[in-house]
Amino acid sequence: MQLDSLFTYDSVALNAAGDGVVIVDQTLLPGEERFLTLRDEHEVYEAIAKLRVRGAPAIGVAAAYGLYVSLFNKNRAVSLSCSEFIAEFYRIKEYIGSARPTAVNLPAALERMTRCLESHKDGSVQEILSALRREAEAVKADDMAMCRSIAGYGASLIDRPGMGILTHCNAGHYAVSRYGTALAPVYLAHSRGMAPRVYADETRPLMQGARITAFELSKAGVDATLQCDNMAASLMASGRIDLVFTGCDRVAANGDTANKIGTSALAILASYYHIPFYILGPTSSIDPSAASGKDIPVEQREAEEVTELYFRHRIAPDGVKVYNPAFDITPASLISGIVTEKGIFRYPYDFSDLQLKDLTV
Ligand code: MRU
Repeated sequence: MQLDSLFTYDSVALNAAGDGVVIVDQTLLPGEERFLTLRDEHEVYEAIAKLRVRGAPAIGVAAAYGLYVSLFNKNRAVSLSCSEFIAEFYRIKEYIGSARPTAVNLPAALERMTRCLESHKDGSVQEILSALRREAEAVKADDMAMCRSIAGYGASLIDRPGMGILTHCNAGHYAVSRYGTALAPVYLAHSRGMAPRVYADETRPLMQGARITAFELSKAGVDATLQCDNMAASLMASGRIDLVFTGCDRVAANGDTANKIGTSALAILASYYHIPFYILGPTSSIDPSAASGKDIPVEQREAEEVTELYFRHRIAPDGVKVYNPAFDITPASLISGIVTEKGIFRYPYDFSDLQLKDLTV
C-alpha cells in the first residue's frame, strides 16, 4: 500500500483560480467534511483563531497562502502602487500573525514570505505577487517533504508488528498539509503492514483527539481506540502502550516543548512507566530565540471551551472561574527523542548545527 493512497485530499491548498485558500473546517469534524475558501485576511484570521484550521504546520501553510491571496485579491480590486503594496503586506502579515501565539510555524511561515518580499521589492507588483505565490507553494511543499521524512525516521521506532502507540490532540493529516507529524510514522508503518494500534486521547476541552485523530485514523483503516485523557495512566499500567508519539507547537533551544495541554502529564506518566516518549515535528517548529520553555508564550483561551461541552451543552455553573491554557510545556529531560525531518535528536538537545533562523517577533 502506498502512503499517499491513504489521503484523498490535502488539508490546506491554494484553489485552482489562485485566489483562495481551501481548508477543511476542522470544527465540524467528524460530522461533516466542509471545505471553506478563504479570500482575505479577515477570513484567514478568523479561521486560525477559531481553529477551523489548526495544528502548527497547517497554520503556517494557511498563513503563507492567506497572506498571498489577501494581497492578490486586494490588488485585483484596487490596483496598488509598489509602496502601497508593501505597506499592505506588513499590515496583513502583522494581523494574521496575531491570530494565535504559541505555534512558531505561524511567524516562521510569515517570515519566509517577508524574506521573499524583501528580495523582490524592486520589481513590479505583479512580479512580487508571482514570487510570493511561489514562496507560499514552497512553504506547503516543504511541509509535505518534512512530514514525509519525519514518517521515515519515526517509523524506524515502530520496529515490531502490532505496537501500541499513545497520542494526544491531533498531529496527523489535518494538522499539516498531508501526512502529519506524530501520525506520519503510524501511517507509514500501517502502509507497510506493521498494523500499529493507536490509542487517541480525546483531548479536552476541544476534543481534537476524539473529533479529528480518531476520525482520520479510522478513515485510513488504522486500528484506533479512543480514551478519555484521565485514562492514560491506566492504559500505560495495562501494558498496552509501547510508545508515546505527540506533535509540538514550539520547541525551545534546550528541547523544552510546548504542545496541547495534557502532553506534559503524558511525559511524566511515560517516565514513571518506562515508556519511550517522543515529540515529532519539523525543524520549523524549533525556535532558537526561546532559550527554554519559560520563553514560549502559552495561549489562554475562552472559558466557554471548558464550561460548555464543545460549545453545545452547559456542564458547569454560570460564573465559575476557569483555567484554560491551550498548551503546556514538557521539560526536555522527559523527552526520549525529538523526531524531525533531519533525524532524531536525543537529550541533552542541541540544535545549533541546524543553523535555524532567529524568529523573534
Ligand atoms: O490548539 P491546536 O489544536 O492547534 O493544538 C495543536 C497541537 O497541540 C498539535 O499537537 C500540534 O500543533 C502539532 S500538529 C502537527
